Amino acid sequence: MRYLMILAALAAAPFAQAADEAALTAEARQQAKSLGQSLMKTLKHGIELSGPEAAIDLCNTEAPVIAGQLSEGDWQVGRTSLKVRNPENTPDVWEEQTLHEFEQRLQAGEDPMKIEATRLTENEFRYMKAIPTGGLCVTCHGAELSEPVKARLAQLYPEDQARGFSVGDLRGAFTLTKTLQ
Ligand code: HEC
Repeated sequence: MRYLMILAALAAAPFAQAADEAALTAEARQQAKSLGQSLMKTLKHGIELSGPEAAIDLCNTEAPVIAGQLSEGDWQVGRTSLKVRNPENTPDVWEEQTLHEFEQRLQAGEDPMKIEATRLTENEFRYMKAIPTGGLCVTCHGAELSEPVKARLAQLYPEDQARGFSVGDLRGAFTLTKTLQ
């Protein structure tokens, strides 16, 4: 009897983990969506109100605040890229590897809106979702930037690497981590 119980527990373990991973992925997608929507709202509002140079200041001050507000409870929410503007967004090993993998998947023709990755270990769950470059983004991340945008970026981000992107390129990714008890 005891053997049977142990066997049953062993057999169920992978299923339990799969169910957990599905639930965590759903939660992560929701968090990434909220972050994306908040950032986009702030960005559009900033540009409409005062133009792209001023919107850079808004991104500079608000992007970390928005990510911080969403990083409540056990979730850590942020953005990363192979070419960062803010050095604080520099990828770690798993993020860098995943960003390279996303590039390959994009080249292979996968829909950028659906490119994502997960990693579940004993004490944390990680999730990344691709961020493609859209038309609005090239104002501040494109190859040809206006003089005022260049000047403001030079002041705030002297080591900026996040330019030269075209519409459709992979700009970066949302990156989320949940600590598991
Ligand atoms: C008004 C200028 C502006 C526009 C337009 C803009 N960004 Fe940014 N972006 C910034 C600034 C400034 C930062 C650095 C924010 C910070 O300090 O965290 C940034 C950072 C990022 C990052 C984090 C990684 C990094 O490079 O540090 C990603 C990803 C990103 N932007 C994607 C986008 C996408 C996608 C769009 C279009 C939907 C976009 N941006 C439009 C100014 C802009």
